[in-house]
Amino acid sequence: MKVLVTGSSGLIGSAAVRHYDSVGADVIGMDNNMRQEFFGPMGSTQWNLERLQKETKRFTHHSVDIRSREHVFELVKTIAPDMVVHCAAQPSHDKAKDIPLLDFDVNAVGTLNMLEATRQHAPDAVFCHMSTNKVYGDAPNELPLIELDRRWEYANPEHFHGISESCRIDQTLHSLFGASKTAADVVAQEYGKYFGMKVGVFRGGCLTGASHSGVELHGFLSYLVHVAVHKKPYTIFGYKGKQVRDQIENADVIAAFEAFRNRPRPGEVYNLGGGRENSASVLECIDLIAKISPYQVDYTLGDTNRTGDHICYISDLRKIKSHYPEWSIRTSLTDMLGRMIEMEEHKAAE
Ligand SMILES: NC(=O)c1ccc[n+]([C@@H]2O[C@H](COP(=O)([O-])OP(=O)(O)OC[C@H]3O[C@@H](n4cnc5c(N)ncnc54)[C@H](O)[C@@H]3O)[C@@H](O)[C@H]2O)c1
Repeated sequence: MKVLVTGSSGLIGSAAVRHYDSVGADVIGMDNNMRQEFFGPMGSTQWNLERLQKETKRFTHHSVDIRSREHVFELVKTIAPDMVVHCAAQPSHDKAKDIPLLDFDVNAVGTLNMLEATRQHAPDAVFCHMSTNKVYGDAPNELPLIELDRRWEYANPEHFHGISESCRIDQTLHSLFGASKTAADVVAQEYGKYFGMKVGVFRGGCLTGASHSGVELHGFLSYLVHVAVHKKPYTIFGYKGKQVRDQIENADVIAAFEAFRNRPRPGEVYNLGGGRENSASVLECIDLIAKISPYQVDYTLGDTNRTGDHICYISDLRKIKSHYPEWSIRTSLTDMLGRMIEMEEHKAAE
């Protein structure tokens, strides 16, 4: 099996590379370390590429930009992959406002390049497209909430499981990032539904893991662990620190791709986050770090929230679980944080 992974040095891409290499596939990565251009040296994923090159057996890397249609088509034609895992992106909600053209070119046009190259040169391939819950814009904030001591919570019991795929995606405040990812999400669905290709769209909640290169504007849990271990100050943007996110470990994301590869459903959309069991507010994550490690986060509460930021977002996982009952969340938030702290300590000691 030949698996082409875009964004292969990033968080989810590198987890896909490791997984498919470990099961004996030929894995071809595409990543031009554009994350460094977006976020500066701390956002660089070069360290992760070097680790992949040391630790894998059948992985080859190409520093190809997904915006470069000519190179993308050439590479997809040469490889003729059986599977494409598309993770390359400008991933930050907040960063997009400074670089709207670049953001759209990478997220929307880059995705179209990947889909069309696959349609022309590998039409039978399974194509997993990594989308985001920001396609719902701030519509999830319309649900009635109650304020608890350390978190916001849904007021109505019928919302207990969180946001489902039926949440509307238009006429809400997305951020430029949410808009470019919505364009990509809808185009990807069309390649499944219109062309009948085996395209699955996965709308991520908070995806994380020990190989995340977290920065202030993207990769909340990873950045929180970084500031905790390095005793740096941390600012919480609004909502009293009670904003809720659901965290999913990258291995559980890859397991969802695997379930889809085994029984693809063309053009289907799935919410994919940690769900109710792995949901926590920023304050609760800070409490958990203090509980399982010697680190205390030195934080200040800012008054202003990030524009369009979700107040309480929990992915409703009932659809993916009903289509793929073999899939479930395997890594708890506590285990995830423990591994991330260990990795941060390891990096600090290097
Ligand atoms: N991490 C999260 O919390 C989260 C949440 C929801 C959705 N997602 C989505 O999941 C996907 C993967 O996210 P991630 O957290 O692994 O991101 P990441 O930033 O860790 O990895 C993305 C990789 O893509 C590469 N890249 C960027 N532009 C490129 C280009 N033009 N050509 C080639 N490579 C390029 C970057 O260098 C980086 O290594 C993205 O589509 C993101 O929007 C992530």
